[in-house]
Amino acid sequence: MDCIAVVASNGAIGKGNQLLFSLPEDMKHFRALTLGKTVILGRKTLDSFPGGKPLPKRQNLVLTRDPGFAREGVTVCRSVPEALERIQGLPEDGVMVIGGAEIYRLFLPFCRRAYLTQVEAEVPGADAFFPELSPEDGWRETERSEEKEQNGLRFTFRTYKRTGT
Ligand SMILES: NC(=O)c1ccc[n+]([C@@H]2O[C@H](COP(=O)([O-])OP(=O)(O)OC[C@H]3O[C@@H](n4cnc5c(N)ncnc54)[C@H](OP(=O)(O)O)[C@@H]3O)[C@@H](O)[C@H]2O)c1
Repeated sequence: MDCIAVVASNGAIGKGNQLLFSLPEDMKHFRALTLGKTVILGRKTLDSFPGGKPLPKRQNLVLTRDPGFAREGVTVCRSVPEALERIQGLPEDGVMVIGGAEIYRLFLPFCRRAYLTQVEAEVPGADAFFPELSPEDGWRETERSEEKEQNGLRFTFRTYKRTGT
């Protein structure tokens, strides 16, 4: 499995259960990399989507500890092992972890690649952060797009791979 996130220079990914940036080009990139796949997300990230609805044209595996949780179009998983069992047999590049902070932290050890949109902006007051892609854990940047600019924000698409995967 792989993961994908939009990250500020200080590692921030969210504030008040919302995204930090509105970047249509990044939304296009996210769509292209997730369509038709199984996406793994936390219940809080699901609640941050419009109407709390799952992403269309993707199988949405939502992590929650709430035994009563159910939502139309969502496959509920109540633990990491349950989610790992659900994705068994799927191709490695058919599963994408899409956040938020808690879910990235839990699933990063199982990811082979991280697709990060790195935005050149610091966001004060953010309350959700992407975990460190530590070289000691084998993480290396392997690709970087040219710098792009939209809505006054400069950003690059970067790919990190974990050596040995
Ligand atoms: N920049 C990006 O690319 C990006 C992407 C996604 C999200 N975000 C942002 O990230 C923020 C949300 O992140 P977050 O860390 O607060 O929440 P989250 O990771 O989306 O969801 C956390 C929830 O997942 C469930 N959970 C966590 N560990 C679990 C486990 N071991 N077993 C079962 N369920 C488990 C719990 O749900 P229950 O409380 O229901 O038990 C927990 O409250 C928002 O600001 C969002 O906009 C940013």
